[in-house]
Amino acid sequence: MQPTVSWGPPAPDQIGWTLERHILYRQRAFPDAKGEFTALFHQLALAGKIIGSRVTQAGLAGVLGVTGDVNVQGETVQKMDEFANATLIRCLESSGHVCIMASEENEDAIGVPEQFTTGKYVVLFDPLDGSSNIDVNISIGTIFSVHRRVSTGRDGTLKDCLQKGSVQVAAGYIMYGSSVMFVYTTGDGVHGFTLDPSIGEFLLSHEDIRIPQRGNTYSINEGNRMHWEEGIAKWVDWVRAPDAEKVHPYGHRYVGTLVADFHRTLLKGGVFVYPADKKNRTGKLRLLYEAAPMAFIAEAAGGAASSGKERILDIEPTELHQRVPLFIGSKDDVKDVERFL
Ligand code: AHG
Ligand code: MN
Ligand code: MN
Repeated sequence: MQPTVSWGPPAPDQIGWTLERHILYRQRAFPDAKGEFTALFHQLALAGKIIGSRVTQAGLAGVLGVTGDVNVQGETVQKMDEFANATLIRCLESSGHVCIMASEENEDAIGVPEQFTTGKYVVLFDPLDGSSNIDVNISIGTIFSVHRRVSTGRDGTLKDCLQKGSVQVAAGYIMYGSSVMFVYTTGDGVHGFTLDPSIGEFLLSHEDIRIPQRGNTYSINEGNRMHWEEGIAKWVDWVRAPDAEKVHPYGHRYVGTLVADFHRTLLKGGVFVYPADKKNRTGKLRLLYEAAPMAFIAEAAGGAASSGKERILDIEPTELHQRVPLFIGSKDDVKDVERFL
């Protein structure tokens, strides 16, 4: 069980309260901690800074556009997808704290090359979320999920990757938006850090984020209406209808980057929905790289995440790239949409 710690920096101001200092401060509740988790996060943050810097300069650096390849998901690979993927792999494989990785962009799990030592963590990631928004300067992000390995031996195995979301050690995302933000949880509180590019550090800006119990925004790709099951269409009609007793009609927001749509939902409340439909029978989003980490964050902030049938965090994964319908956000809003399914 996680010990309870108070979040607040001891000083009244937050000067110099970096991501690393925050993690180290929390580690005081774990006297046996050897600094491995802190070091792993250092590498994740480093990858985020490198990708963020490249994203900012994308138009100048010649990294816009497609590579000409199609990934394991059957999607066109953007040059930035490839860059972000390589950056994360390079930063993590040499950390000494990872035994295996899995990425949305790689068909198989990714091992740690012989020249590096392995460690006790497993990292799964969507290196660049929101690929279709890269070339049009709209927010994109990186999503990561951290598990403790269950295998023994030097190398991790597929079993290490296929663990259910509820046993994640940590999850988070890095958003490349109007600022670069690093948001993470270890399951008992969600904290956000904003990159100060002038000093190259993520500084605490959003401490102990709590998602409102109910919001007034719904987020879904309405262009898919013709493919929806009846329940989803009825729910959308319901949130759009005026109602004297409720806060209806809800406003509609949809960026098309899960990280950005989720980040807004986390801070302001409401619900993000990517349902199964007649075209995508199991939905579009990926359980291990998108749904599970975001569900871990949502629940740690007091929200909920469901596949429509069950809690996302209870799903036992059977394959790396499996997809799942996702209903995530404020507790009451998730409950409402579930009633219509
Ligand atoms: P990715 O760019 O990693 O493939 O993910 C795209 C995802 C997600 O970010 C977003 O919520 C969703 O696709 C948008 O899909 P539609 O364009 O079908 O709405
Ligand atoms: Mn994605
Ligand atoms: Mn992606």
